[in-house]
Amino acid sequence: MYARVVAATLAAALGTAAVLLSPTSDARAREDGVPVVIAHRGASAYAPENTLAAIDKAAELGFSWVENDVQRTKDGELVVLHDDSLQRTTNVEDVFPGRAPWKVRDFTAAEIARLDAGSWFSPAYAGARVPTLQQYMRRVEHNHEKLLLEIKNPELYPGIEQQTLKLLGNEGWLDGRHLGRLVVQSFSADSVRAVHELKPAVTTAYLGTPTVAQLPGLARFTDLVNPSYGSLSRGYVSAVHVFHGPHGRRLKLFAWTVNDAAGTRMVAAYGVDGIITNKPDVVRAALGSD
Ligand code: G3P
Ligand code: CA
Repeated sequence: MYARVVAATLAAALGTAAVLLSPTSDARAREDGVPVVIAHRGASAYAPENTLAAIDKAAELGFSWVENDVQRTKDGELVVLHDDSLQRTTNVEDVFPGRAPWKVRDFTAAEIARLDAGSWFSPAYAGARVPTLQQYMRRVEHNHEKLLLEIKNPELYPGIEQQTLKLLGNEGWLDGRHLGRLVVQSFSADSVRAVHELKPAVTTAYLGTPTVAQLPGLARFTDLVNPSYGSLSRGYVSAVHVFHGPHGRRLKLFAWTVNDAAGTRMVAAYGVDGIITNKPDVVRAALGSD
């Protein structure tokens, strides 16, 4: 009910229907104007972030979109982890006590595979692993999920864009059937541009709150602008929506990281196209789309 009111208000305010367009929306969103809900690092309030358990949890709760963070090991394997260090979300300090500051890029994939990435969160997740991107993509596929893939810290990993796209292609994620279920994003405009130039068919997103004056330049290679929700206003969202991206579609905007009802209602009223959240169930309830 609330969602319908918001959609109607927006349509009036913006002079256009607040209806979302594919490929980054699900069918329900296209029908009623409800923002897409994206489980941030998986359903990371309820399972350890960026693990397979976190995307299983998102699926179990009924959400199709998940977000992750991709980095690279010392021996060149792509893995899914947020921080550039393994310290916060694994038991690396116990397993490799002499290797501070425990940077991802200083450990081999075999070493990282030994780490427990679940116990820090809860004993119930003891033994969860840091997934390789290949393992992760296979689970996303198995769960019939959609992926907002973040290339994290690309300045640390030269060529990570090409390597990521190669893996996605090898896993079948660059065919027509999968492209509508994939968005690649980064805080680095150079990285987003590289992805677009290497594989123009891929939907891309720039993370941040660029000035309105920067939007025309970004719109040459990004389909979405994804800002921190605290930086948003209705006027800013409307300004983003004026532009069209490299595929000729109106630029979209996914806001992060919104974990409560008040924040959800605020950004929904601003007209965002997606809400990135650690608590997708809370956002769904606040949108009235339960
Ligand atoms: O997807 C948006 C969000 O993930 C960006 O921030 O630090 O959680 O990767 P961060
Ligand atoms: Ca992220």
